[in-house]
Amino acid sequence: MDTHAHGLPDSPAWNALSTHADSLRNCQLRELFAGDAQRFNRFTLQSEHLFLDYSKNRITAETRQLLVSLANESELAYAIEAMFSGEAINFTEQRPVLHTALRNFSGQPVMVNGHDVMIDVLAVRQQMLGFCQRVWSGEWRGYTDHPIRHVVNIGIGGSDLGPMMACDVLRHCTETELSVDFVSNVDACDMQEVLGRVDLETTLFIVASKTFSTQETMANAHLARQHLLDQGCPTSGIAQHFVAVTCNPEAAVAFGISDQNTFTFWDWVGGRYSMWSSIGLAIALYAGMDQFEAMLKGAESMDLHFRNTPFEKNLPVMMALLGVWNTTLQGMSNHVLACYDQRLALFPAHLQQLDMESNGKQVRRDGTIVNYATGPMLFGGVGTNNQHAYFQLLHQGTALAPVDFIACLTDQHDNPDHHAMLLANCFAQSEALMNGRDRDSTAAELRASGLSEEQIDSLAPHRTFPGNRVSNTLLFRQLNAETLGALVALYEHKVFVQGVIWGINSFDQWGVELGKTLSGVILDELNNDASCPSHDASTNGLVDLYRRGHW
Ligand code: F6P
Repeated sequence: MDTHAHGLPDSPAWNALSTHADSLRNCQLRELFAGDAQRFNRFTLQSEHLFLDYSKNRITAETRQLLVSLANESELAYAIEAMFSGEAINFTEQRPVLHTALRNFSGQPVMVNGHDVMIDVLAVRQQMLGFCQRVWSGEWRGYTDHPIRHVVNIGIGGSDLGPMMACDVLRHCTETELSVDFVSNVDACDMQEVLGRVDLETTLFIVASKTFSTQETMANAHLARQHLLDQGCPTSGIAQHFVAVTCNPEAAVAFGISDQNTFTFWDWVGGRYSMWSSIGLAIALYAGMDQFEAMLKGAESMDLHFRNTPFEKNLPVMMALLGVWNTTLQGMSNHVLACYDQRLALFPAHLQQLDMESNGKQVRRDGTIVNYATGPMLFGGVGTNNQHAYFQLLHQGTALAPVDFIACLTDQHDNPDHHAMLLANCFAQSEALMNGRDRDSTAAELRASGLSEEQIDSLAPHRTFPGNRVSNTLLFRQLNAETLGALVALYEHKVFVQGVIWGINSFDQWGVELGKTLSGVILDELNNDASCPSHDASTNGLVDLYRRGHW
């Protein structure tokens, strides 16, 4: 696929950017910094909770101005308002996209088809609070009359990753005494490990599924239910151990969960945008309702920033435009999230779904195939662990991947020396990626360590770093529920803006359907030896191997 922009809808801004990108083809970050003592000040931004240094991108002030023109030409301002005001921008499913309503504390209505959805949003949040209080106080009891001590969230994708990540971040400031686990994989090892560990008499299962029909979630919910029954829980006691979070309450009732214990949300909340809805019940139960609401408020502060800030000072917009620049115009088809904060260990996994399920698309809104790169491959993890694993490739490999370094400015523990080491590593990595080390400096260093010229000639190429590798650094003062909300919302809006620029629908996910359909066909074949597999030779061969159980 052509990674340049010539195939993008012909427009003055695209054409100007393409020409400009060609003129910067040999641009060196080192030189950009050498030529402008104010570069850091010129290419940093802030919002209430976050600080962004994007100076280590291969851009100039002209690039920024051209990118902003592109945003204007893409009618981004109109698109933002369309999203916030509930237009059906997810047009392949005819749905509004209103996760922002879930964190709207303005008191203003949000109308969908003439109905103020804020009434429903607030009612469900009230229902969540009442439920949490019953669990915390011990009023809610399991079938042996013991209070609840453990929560197990059964869900997958957006019904798992966001809440799991948030609980992990907030474990240091939880206001309750509950423990929480997340089970997602249809591999029974996942559920069995948890079932073997928790005391079922004091365990509450949350079946979290927008559709209440996802294979993995339903299989795991049935497994947990059966386990309870096998342990002696009467059928009538199941309701004391299961609650549901879903847009499909009828299916939850059919499973045996009363509608009073079903927390609904709406089709205008996408799965990967649902942690702000009742899908966040695990967060509220585990960390406390105040923490959950603080997270919503942090997200709202980013919504306000996004909606009201000029594009060149707008964090999500600028991060999105830089992403378009790097991916589509500079040919970098990967993106790395390097979180220098152990509490954000699960953040890359959540972002991976958010970004790749949203913008892993190749069809434009008008149905035509793009001939330019859209969403990058996104992966990541925590620093400093990443430095001892995949960072080698980032420094010296042939694939280029912009990195978002994410870190907390101040320490929130009793070991400031560790925090200084952590941030020293974080800052050093972006410096090393940018500056690299040329052959002369490498040779000088080797010479100083006493190596012969022959040894230097042989080693220097391997110890030279090309540099000129781009990164953003995103900082917050403290990591708490509010900051977390702002951080997640920042990336949600970044992804949205990129979808607008690339002309794709960021809010459907048809790409995951084909595999689901085929797995149903294959499951029948695996379970029925008499049937004749009807696939290609490879798939037939694998089905056959499964049936025989050996090769
Ligand atoms: O298969 C993808 C997906 O539809 C995600 O978009 C979603 O977050 C996940 O499955 C889980 O879906 P559900 O909440 O309906 O179980």
